Amino acid sequence: MVSCLHSLFFVFFFLFSFSDAAQQQIGSFRPRALILPIRRDVPTNLYVADIHKRTPQLPVPFVIDLSGRHLWVTCQHDYLSTTYRAPKCHSAQCHIANAHTCRTCSSQTGPGCHNNTCSLVSYNPVTRKSAPGEVAQDVLSIQSIKGSNPGPMVSVPHFIFGCAPSSLLQGPLPRNVQGFAGFGRSQVSLPSQLASHFGFRQKFALCLGGNGVIFFGEGPYMMQPGIDVSKSLSTTPLIVSRQGEYLIGVRAIKINNKNVPINTTLLSINARGNGGTRISTVVPYTVLESSIFKSVTQFFANELSQVPRVNPVAPFGLCFDAQHIGSSQMGPAVPNIDFVLDKDYVVWRMFGANSMVRAANNTMCLAFADGGVNHQRASIVIGAHQLEDNLLQFDLTASRLGFSSSLLGRRTTCANFNFTSLA
Ligand SMILES: *[C@@H]1O[C@H](CO)[C@@H](O)[C@H](O)[C@H]1NC(C)=O
Ligand SMILES: *[C@@H]1O[C@H](CO)[C@@H](O)[C@H](O)[C@H]1NC(C)=O
Ligand SMILES: *[C@@H]1O[C@H](CO)[C@@H](O)[C@H](O)[C@H]1NC(C)=O
Ligand SMILES: *[C@@H]1O[C@H](CO)[C@@H](O)[C@H](O)[C@H]1NC(C)=O
Repeated sequence: MVSCLHSLFFVFFFLFSFSDAAQQQIGSFRPRALILPIRRDVPTNLYVADIHKRTPQLPVPFVIDLSGRHLWVTCQHDYLSTTYRAPKCHSAQCHIANAHTCRTCSSQTGPGCHNNTCSLVSYNPVTRKSAPGEVAQDVLSIQSIKGSNPGPMVSVPHFIFGCAPSSLLQGPLPRNVQGFAGFGRSQVSLPSQLASHFGFRQKFALCLGGNGVIFFGEGPYMMQPGIDVSKSLSTTPLIVSRQGEYLIGVRAIKINNKNVPINTTLLSINARGNGGTRISTVVPYTVLESSIFKSVTQFFANELSQVPRVNPVAPFGLCFDAQHIGSSQMGPAVPNIDFVLDKDYVVWRMFGANSMVRAANNTMCLAFADGGVNHQRASIVIGAHQLEDNLLQFDLTASRLGFSSSLLGRRTTCANFNFTSLA
């Protein structure tokens, strides 16, 4: 009990000294919100952000992992920084990172290799491998927002991250990537540390696209031509798994406003934490448990029976002759797919731009993949293609997800933030 209070005291002490430093460092300018540009890497379909770290400052490319618990980077080679620190074992920083094991290192002293530091296990969601490394701290800088444009860069001087062995960085991964930036629910995820450092509400918003952005802090989030995409969002409860991943409660699936017959037991999360609907930025296309996949595919095929089918292209199960599919403001003109959430009128509607993908020149496929029977813990994993040009606002304080549905309906996209800096 005494030791527990003791560590709590250290955690609070640490947090307070942390925000003091913030005030001194940014002087009178207190950002209201921050912005991180991201891009889709075409060969891998992963989303990459250049995050400014170290001293001297360097933009380092990271894969965005919505489910990751912290930011990790390989730092055994080419990590040059005068501000790198490895907190001592049992320090407040290690408590915050939930890293309670002490570590030693027998090779040459340097970033990632110190004695008497604490050990943090990092995870690569592409290879599904994990590896331990040391808890580290260094400067992290990010662009603030001023009105509708970017404002000055602001810094977190002692950002906590995991220093992982180079062997963890396997893929296929985008070229030059140095690690993964975790956005999951944990005290050391990227959004949590930014929110506590700058005194924001625990809130961030994802807007994926070929070029997209992530917002931290409160709206308005302005997109050209003068549209506040933080307005008129639908909301649904946000569920956080034990691993810190984000789930939502899909109760039914509709196609063309008609109920698709599915085993609803699979849609709820059972006592072992399996089932339900998870959101992911590293899964390229929504993955459905096998029986749901079959049902959705068959139903969609019936609703679009007038369009000639062609041989499916893996990993998809249903493909059409693209010449016979018209186009609309919302992408290919096909039946709407609705995920019905906590109430009958709270619906995540997917139009052609998010439900279809061009898999070859004249082949357009339903952009859902078969997850098998026991492939993933969740029955539905909503993947990146379905998230593109939709704004998703994760409000961790209120445990609520705000979602815009396709921004194409508001005549804007996730690429439309005005990155022109004001002098
Ligand atoms: C850690 O301690 C061991 C044993 O004292 C020593 O051999 C090793 O060189 C030390 N490692 C570093 C990185 O200082
Ligand atoms: C529905 O799914 C649950 C969980 O996998 C399974 O136990 C049950 O047998 C399924 N029900 C039907 C009717 O297939
Ligand atoms: C696809 O289209 C491109 C450009 O229009 C063409 O060069 C290519 O030969 C086509 N490929 C196939 C498989 O039809
Ligand atoms: C972007 O912002 C700059 C600075 O405010 C402004 O001059 C410019 O017109 C904006 N661009 C567009 C396309 O609105």
